[in-house]
Amino acid sequence: MNPTPELGPALQSLIVRAEQALDRSLPPAEQSPAELHRAMRYAVLGGGKRLRPLLVYAAGHALGEDGPSLDAAACAVELIHAYSLVHDDLPAMDDDALRRGRPTCHIVFGEAMAILAGDALQALAFELLADDAARRPDATIGIAMLRALGRACGAEGMAGGQALDLAAVGHPLTLDELEHMHACKTGALIRASVQLGALAAGADAATLHALDRYAHAVGLAFQVRDDVLDVEGASAVIGKTAGKDAAAAKPTFPSIIGLDASRARLAELTDTALAAIASLGGRTALLKELALYAVHRRY
Ligand code: IPE
Ligand code: IPE
Ligand code: MG
Ligand code: MG
Ligand code: MG
Repeated sequence: MNPTPELGPALQSLIVRAEQALDRSLPPAEQSPAELHRAMRYAVLGGGKRLRPLLVYAAGHALGEDGPSLDAAACAVELIHAYSLVHDDLPAMDDDALRRGRPTCHIVFGEAMAILAGDALQALAFELLADDAARRPDATIGIAMLRALGRACGAEGMAGGQALDLAAVGHPLTLDELEHMHACKTGALIRASVQLGALAAGADAATLHALDRYAHAVGLAFQVRDDVLDVEGASAVIGKTAGKDAAAAKPTFPSIIGLDASRARLAELTDTALAAIASLGGRTALLKELALYAVHRRY
């Protein structure tokens, strides 16, 4: 299956670049501990839209950067994302059997190996960024990149958002609480992706701020679209079990404000994202394409 037929050739070729970098960054399947390595490779390779790596490359590209730092950052955010999906699917969390059109990691490798694969993917992400930081003449940027990723996946970011998600099951949330949960569980890593690309390019504070407003809107929109697809999509198309949120009594955009208002919020967030980067000048075509993709994607 071609995972992203809607994207243009520049982004398609960046997907290939990300796939190759990920393949190189992961430990070989034959090397001991082989079962762990196979579980890590299974979780990362062979599927996924690669939105977060694309945001790293697009942010770097907007600021004229195209070097190997972007590959390190692209791999780091996708490894964190893949780890978060492995753990999200575990029986103790969403208890899902289907991911990226295939059985989930714990179905294939068992729960213990899936937990360890997630742990090891998270550690590898930071190792890759640290390797990249060590190659820089000035440590400041590398440290800022490490810090941004650490914040995005910790208690104030993805892990915190996942905790809010679990605590909210069966409880009514206000729209503000729901947006906060989404901003943490999904938005934080998407913001970090854009930030890492921009930091690698040496962005100044004003540019980082504009890009962060873009990323905040795209990150929220991405999870709103995920919630809408859980209602509207078919499992065979979205590659995961459709209707799972309602079945598990998850608070989602459609469950709290309805489908029409969710679609209206998506349109609003798109406008916010595009307005945020309007002042950045000429090289924002890929960022624009990704903002539109986040809200119009079918899986
Ligand atoms: C799914 O993320 C989980 C969310 C954070 C919404 P993606 O929709 O990016 O999943 P893949 O990587 O394409 O499988
Ligand atoms: C997942 O949100 C967010 C993270 C993995 C951090 P969901 O639980 O909605 O993602 P899917 O729908 O299983 O992909
Ligand atoms: Mg979940
Ligand atoms: Mg889930
Ligand atoms: Mg979902």
